[in-house]
Amino acid sequence: SKHLNGFPSDFFWGGSTSAYQVEGAWDEDGKGPSVIDMGRVVEGTTDFKVASDHYHRYKEDIALFAELGLKAYRFSIAWTRIFPSGEGEVNSKGIDFYNNLIDELIANGIEPIATMYHFDLPYALQEKGGWSNRVTVEAFATYSRTLFEAFGDRVKYWLTINEQNMMILHGDALGTKHVDANNPMKDLYQQNHHMLVAQAKAMSLCHQLLPQAKIGPAPNISVIYPASCKPEDILAANTFSALRNWLYLDMAVYGRYNSTAWRFLEERDATPTITSGDMEILAKAKPDFIAFNYYNSQTVAQSAGDESDINSTGDQQITIGEIGAYKGVENKHLVKNEFGWEIDPVGFRTTMREIYERYALPLIITENGLGAFDKVEANDEINDDYRITYLQQHIEQVQLAISDGVEVFGYSPWSAIDLISTHQGCSKRYGFIHVDREEFDLKALKRSKKKSFYWYQSLIEKNGL
Ligand code: BG6
Repeated sequence: SKHLNGFPSDFFWGGSTSAYQVEGAWDEDGKGPSVIDMGRVVEGTTDFKVASDHYHRYKEDIALFAELGLKAYRFSIAWTRIFPSGEGEVNSKGIDFYNNLIDELIANGIEPIATMYHFDLPYALQEKGGWSNRVTVEAFATYSRTLFEAFGDRVKYWLTINEQNMMILHGDALGTKHVDANNPMKDLYQQNHHMLVAQAKAMSLCHQLLPQAKIGPAPNISVIYPASCKPEDILAANTFSALRNWLYLDMAVYGRYNSTAWRFLEERDATPTITSGDMEILAKAKPDFIAFNYYNSQTVAQSAGDESDINSTGDQQITIGEIGAYKGVENKHLVKNEFGWEIDPVGFRTTMREIYERYALPLIITENGLGAFDKVEANDEINDDYRITYLQQHIEQVQLAISDGVEVFGYSPWSAIDLISTHQGCSKRYGFIHVDREEFDLKALKRSKKKSFYWYQSLIEKNGL
């Protein structure tokens, strides 16, 4: 049997959230609207305006995180609280809020891990073309400088852009709009290029201004299985891995375009325009670690070469095929959660190995978790044994990966507290802490501890053993 190494004594047992999913106060204290606010609030699919009301209850929430024993809290900063229009004047009340949040975390012995941008692009920038417009690159650079200057004395861990790869591959679901209808793919990869340059600038700036701080990208990475050992299926999996995973990390780490991904774009007339100086900016910037989110693995088969390749459900976890390249298929060896997402703990270990073998940088998992319809039983009890099982199985694989020689310095599951799901409202819950509200009935937003809270608390106490 395998020899198991323990978790490092300073391992970051964390919990994660993102601004628009947890904060609420969507237009308070000078905050400007983001693409999420304008999309979802206006559509009225769920009430994002209040979310979990963390903006007003962060002290109560952080007290609960401290009781849970969190060593780290991964949250995101809403760009539109700092710059209501994405650029221009700084909104000092936005700075105040994150100062208070960060101070409260530190007072409770919790390491703040800040994501700079988690899907919520300022709407004012979107109106000017969003990431298609180079102006957004400069706006992001200025925004990142402002964050480093305001919070860099206390925040030592920075994440640049959450799931950039999902914004490109599943942009419609996440508010990434293409501007050029004639060649949407080219436009998307232009946006992607601009985000990569913006990220590189932020990484270099971070090292320049804050020599003690660490910064890294935060894509969603998962092992890609071929549907069979048929060589064409293997090739399809290789292509999809290049497009879904390595394009983003090769650029973040090595500052170069992945050759397979680049050729794929060339064949589709979708390569971005590269402004002179970009490749130098990209090559110079280096991350200190790789943060990644993992929920499930993906499986692909050889392309059928026609429309049947495209499985366009809009759900980020289901592979959308590319005619002539690959086709997303189900993996019959895996069970699915209530929302149709395949559950694959072993694939998590393979994913950690693959990333570490390729880049040899320390890893932190910034999202992993189970969305479910929780039931409140007598005495406010929530017996989320299914969540405990999911987390236990995945944490076990982290320990196995560490024992394989992978350097992992933190595990921060989704989510620290109940929040609004990106796709399915607030009834799809992820938290250790229950927030009493429904889609359109805010109730009292009362917090209560789920069974998983006590389980995770005791796991952290024993450092994962
Ligand atoms: C990740 C996102 O893709 O998945 C989170 O970074 C999101 O913002 C999480 O909430 C789970 O997805 P969903 O759609 O179930 O909320």
